[in-house]
Amino acid sequence: MSQPTRLVAGNWKMNGAAGALREAHALAESLAKEPARARVALFPPAILIHRMAEQVKGSGVQVGAQDCHPESSGAYTGDLSAEMLHEAGARLVILGHSERRTGYRESDADVAAKVQAALRAGLEPVVCAGESLTQRDAGQALEVVAAQLQGSLPDSLDGLPFAIAYEPVWAIGTGRTPTVEQVEAVHGRIHDLLTARFSNGASVPVLYGGSVKPSNAAELLHARGVDGALVGGASLKAHDFLPIIRAA
Ligand code: PGA
Repeated sequence: MSQPTRLVAGNWKMNGAAGALREAHALAESLAKEPARARVALFPPAILIHRMAEQVKGSGVQVGAQDCHPESSGAYTGDLSAEMLHEAGARLVILGHSERRTGYRESDADVAAKVQAALRAGLEPVVCAGESLTQRDAGQALEVVAAQLQGSLPDSLDGLPFAIAYEPVWAIGTGRTPTVEQVEAVHGRIHDLLTARFSNGASVPVLYGGSVKPSNAAELLHARGVDGALVGGASLKAHDFLPIIRAA
């Protein structure tokens, strides 16, 4: 069974106007000169996907979306379908990020429906899961993350490329990170779950996300079972994101 291909993903969230495209350009230029060992993907706000995809063409950097609607079209004001995002140039999509699970009350079933939509449109899903601080303190991290993933991953993923991001909610944007032992325990549980459920489970990358920055990237990225990172704040500037990519 092949090893997971490492992936470093930059989630821009609702940051970055058109001027920020110069950061993507700088990143692509640097990676074109000196290719990274890991796959690299940027997830800008949806309105920048098309321009960014054009801009990084040929550099190896892939572009993704931060969410999609489960339906392919219809009366869903303000929403974007997986097909639209694919047409704009997205090749991956983040689904079930805790900011959507919390802010938009997305359930595991909602996330699973979006994963189906992504597969229908040919987008590679990056499915997120993570425990709250209360759940961590109650000793429930492993079971919460496993239950979220069981509910969010449809069987139809079998044999197809996808990635998982373990993002403890209390580590996102806070500067706090779990210990290497805590990360390894959760990643081990996720790898077990993937191998048990999917024929290609052993080759699915499991990324760590939550306050990854240049100073802690090497430690987190080299923890056992960590196959890359999902990076928020530190992915907005090429000079912060590049050392993280190089550490992978
Ligand atoms: P952060 O965000 O790196 O800013 O903590 C990570 C994420 O939410 O994907």
